[in-house]
Amino acid sequence: MSRYAAVTGWGHYSPSRVLTNHDLEQMVETSDEWIRARTGIAERRLATEGETTTSMAVVAAQRALERARMDAIDLDLVICASTTPDYLLPAASCIVQERLGAGNAGAFDLNTACTGFLYALVTASQFIRAGTYDRVLVVAAETLSRFTNWKDRNTCVLFGDGAGAVVLEATDRDCGLLSAVLGSQGDVGHLLAIEAGGSANPTSEETLSNGHHYITMRGNEVFRFAVRSMEHAASEALAKAGLTSHDIRMVIPHQANIRIIRATQEALGLPPEKVFINVDRYGNTSAASVPIALSECLSSEAIRPGDNLLFVAFGGGLTWASAVLRWADVDAIIGQREEGPYAI
Ligand SMILES: CC(C)(COP(=O)(O)OP(=O)(O)OC[C@H]1O[C@@H](n2cnc3c(N)ncnc32)[C@H](O)[C@@H]1OP(=O)(O)O)[C@@H](O)C(=O)NCCC(=O)NCCS
Repeated sequence: MSRYAAVTGWGHYSPSRVLTNHDLEQMVETSDEWIRARTGIAERRLATEGETTTSMAVVAAQRALERARMDAIDLDLVICASTTPDYLLPAASCIVQERLGAGNAGAFDLNTACTGFLYALVTASQFIRAGTYDRVLVVAAETLSRFTNWKDRNTCVLFGDGAGAVVLEATDRDCGLLSAVLGSQGDVGHLLAIEAGGSANPTSEETLSNGHHYITMRGNEVFRFAVRSMEHAASEALAKAGLTSHDIRMVIPHQANIRIIRATQEALGLPPEKVFINVDRYGNTSAASVPIALSECLSSEAIRPGDNLLFVAFGGGLTWASAVLRWADVDAIIGQREEGPYAI
């Protein structure tokens, strides 16, 4: 019997604190007009005092588990995608696993920046399809606001905080990933970096006074990489799945910049309404961006079993990722699980 990995739960969490472009006008030399025109962002959410990457991840994960009608104790594995974990050690996934009460699950972190959720989704899917595990939680969460230099207008207008999660489970019903494309180009990694705080450049008075613990970015070069890699990755994922863009119900892209998203949409020859957008309200939440968009898309659009979703992202590393996912008959799979012992 064939095994597939279905997404049966999803959820997201966005902190309550809103930072508008007008707020930013009071902090750096910028304008609402410039930010909207260059990025499409109107406001972003920032973690409140006491909130962390894992506290947001736990809420998103609980929402995903609730939608899947699954108890955390039944999870086999927790994968956490983040560039901004609570600590270098222990891993964010271990904290999430403990707080959820997922006592039977292994846990590991994965860091490919903004493509992290898609790398984790593909990884989780492989664990399930290989028969290693039956139920995997993928959660992506970021607290970029704590790594942002609020005096650097090149970066501080772009980012936001939040978390998104999905539950994947084994099923014999045809669904799940039809294709995946994962790419990396390490030679241009320096274009988007946090230079200090790791083993190459441990935190010191000098790194702190130079602001090397903050995100730095060569925006224009990243922009050109983004447009190129999003187009290529999306087209390759479609070709690998044996589909064209017309077979796609919705594209769920990484929400970094409306101009990058529109360039991708036009390259794919799709109308604007086939691409989900929320960058205006959240900014770029890095790894959390795609699962937050997926979770909102599932609330606002009628996604039916058999619909094909196209995910595409780029990010630090530099990396890119894309995947086509055939939406499952979620309620049927949950119903089957609740009816009797697991039998695939
Ligand atoms: C950052 C970004 C919005 C800048 O837009 P751009 O059209 O490339 O603009 P440029 O970098 O050419 O800068 C244009 C000018 O605006 C200025 N500028 C930069 N940030 C500004 C801000 N917040 N407000 C006003 N002016 C700003 C620059 O200093 C530059 O001024 P100059 O011409 O006098 O030197 C765009 O490059 C981008 O989105 N890049 C990708 C970033 C990204 O997605 N990173 C995350 C990766 S996951």
